[in-house]
Amino acid sequence: MPIANKPILFYGLEALVAAGVSDIGIIVGDTEAEIRSAVGDGSRWKARVTYIKQDAPLGLAHAVKIAQPFLQRDSFVMYLGDNLVRDGVTSFVHRFEERQPDSMILLAKVPNPEMFGVAELADGRIIRLEEKPENPKSDLVLVGVYLFTSRIFEAVNAIAPSERGELEITDAIQWLLDHDANVEPHVIQGWWKDTGRLEDMLEANRFVLDSVKAFNAGTVDDRSKLVGKVIVEEGAEICNSVIRGPAIIGERTKITDSYIGPFTSIYHGCEIRNSELEHSIVLENSKILDVGIKIEDSLIGKEVVIRRTEELPKALRFMLGDRSEVQLT
Ligand code: G1P
Repeated sequence: MPIANKPILFYGLEALVAAGVSDIGIIVGDTEAEIRSAVGDGSRWKARVTYIKQDAPLGLAHAVKIAQPFLQRDSFVMYLGDNLVRDGVTSFVHRFEERQPDSMILLAKVPNPEMFGVAELADGRIIRLEEKPENPKSDLVLVGVYLFTSRIFEAVNAIAPSERGELEITDAIQWLLDHDANVEPHVIQGWWKDTGRLEDMLEANRFVLDSVKAFNAGTVDDRSKLVGKVIVEEGAEICNSVIRGPAIIGERTKITDSYIGPFTSIYHGCEIRNSELEHSIVLENSKILDVGIKIEDSLIGKEVVIRRTEELPKALRFMLGDRSEVQLT
């Protein structure tokens, strides 16, 4: 999943490498092939990447368990691949190295703590962690970045699966707390996003687009207008269109007779013709053609086609994948 036309996972890899981590194990499941082809051996980041196969999604603590042969007795950072942390993890890693606790967890204040692991603190110390509680005791939640020493292996081997059938990393850290381990909290100030839901992805896209630098490596004809911060990637073509940034138009994407509004990322190889699109993400090789009404707040997958036709009978025709949602007005 790209955010501002870069796979979310790459932001995590960059953050790890910037913090001095160059030996990276990636836990993979069903999407192993796609991840391998995007990340390769890690040399693009001057890192060494090892793939560790998790046969079923049995939980984050299970992922730690199966990574033990790779990690051995080393301390390590665990970074959930769908998390975006604006300020990276460098200061967090340095603090861990300086203070040498058994574990350090990253926390952030959110308005909806019941959707995360929640931490209860007293005098700056963690007293209890709970995974997705119905009645959260605080609004401080676990960001998907954790630092561990090899003591975590005792914990992941001791805990039992949760109600959702997973070995929870939150339970493993609670086990550490219960066994007199020193687990330190680190509350982050900059923005952080777990990009699991559509609105989170659109928000992350907004945050990232806000901080990118405009450039034009494509072709923009003289009937078109780029307003504000717009990135036009290599081979992209803009004809008779208005692009109002912040926005990014991917490689080889063609925009004709259209309006692209703020906070929109259109990935590679797309075609937008005679349509209006705003605050949306479009993935590779999709086409939006002659749609007579503005599309906004949308996530459009790969190789999707949305087009107006004159075919009779006059009707809506869909071919939608699993968990799709269409709103008609
Ligand atoms: C996981 C953790 C949760 C943490 C969240 C951060 O949730 O279990 O404690 O707050 O990541 O992204 P999950 O993505 O498994 O629902």
